[in-house]
Amino acid sequence: MIYVLGIETSCDDSCVAVVDDKLQVLSNVVSSQTEFHRRFGGIVPEVASRKHLEYLPWVLDQALRDAHLTLEDINLIAVTQGPGLLGSLLMGVCLGKTIALFGDIPFVGVNHLEGHLFAIRLEHPEIQPPFLALIVSGGHTEIIAVREWGKYDYLGSTRDDAAGEAYDKVAKFLRLGYPGGPIIDRLSEGARGDRFHFSAGLEDDDTLDFSFSGLKTAVVRHYHRLREEEKEDKELIRDLVASFQESVVRVLVNKTFKALEIQGFSQIVVGGGVAANRHLRRRMKEEGEKRGVQVFFPSPSFCTDNGAMIAACGLFHWERGKKDSWEMEPDPRLPLVSIE
Ligand code: KG4
Ligand code: ZN
Repeated sequence: MIYVLGIETSCDDSCVAVVDDKLQVLSNVVSSQTEFHRRFGGIVPEVASRKHLEYLPWVLDQALRDAHLTLEDINLIAVTQGPGLLGSLLMGVCLGKTIALFGDIPFVGVNHLEGHLFAIRLEHPEIQPPFLALIVSGGHTEIIAVREWGKYDYLGSTRDDAAGEAYDKVAKFLRLGYPGGPIIDRLSEGARGDRFHFSAGLEDDDTLDFSFSGLKTAVVRHYHRLREEEKEDKELIRDLVASFQESVVRVLVNKTFKALEIQGFSQIVVGGGVAANRHLRRRMKEEGEKRGVQVFFPSPSFCTDNGAMIAACGLFHWERGKKDSWEMEPDPRLPLVSIE
């Protein structure tokens, strides 16, 4: 049996997991720093790296305990190399290299986006490409054609804010809290998403690209107008954020299915933090059922950042001969490239 230690610190969650070579998750510990970043309404990079330094030792310890293993049992270290915040990435890479050095264990750097793609294998190891992937997180909104595991073609991307970033910025502006995605998700349940109509940028154009910056501004402008008219109340705010969410989800669903038609695929895999969103999950499944297309989502805890997805992705590359040297460095802009 091969045991893989997955370390993920690209943003503000300190994550360590143990996954075996059958992709069974033996442990998956995530220490969120939300309470420290909440007061700033967003992530403060230096605070994030300092908190990783503080949390990682006990997150590692807990992950090994939960898996009933010790470091001596670990056969491979997989660590997020990028993209992400440099200071945060450094903490994870440093931890991974140190364990690898002292334990004489191979280690591999993993692309964070590819990690989000591999999250689906933890619960659906049977899924085989080709499929269309939609990765929606705080830093990315990408439509990718997955021809084989490791072989990718970018089809569409955001030209400004990522979908999760738009959720976070709208919530920050409306003083709803941080991170905005889960808060708006919760507030929107049972609210009227059809009360206000906002069109998302590039919604009706021919590309598979997205733009969320104008949508965010439109919501903010509308909020000002409601305040001027003294119409602002709790119910109205819920309808306002539900209407914002409706627009985000509508454009994500429409462009994903448009890409599917162009590619002629019959499966869709969704990943990244925004994939935890209930309305997106519902709408994608409904649309899939209508068209006879299978739509797969990881469980919410595997949508948001976690070490298990990094372990699964690292294992895949290691089994194909990848092994990083001590020179491996974190790269905040690491591109997702196909294997040879
Ligand atoms: O993948 P992730 O954990 O970290 C990044 O790689 O960015 O995604 C975090 C993003 C945040 O913007 C957060 O607001 C959003 O995912 N998010 C959600 C939900 N849960 C997390 N957005 C909408 N609905 C949710 N339930
Ligand atoms: Zn992520």
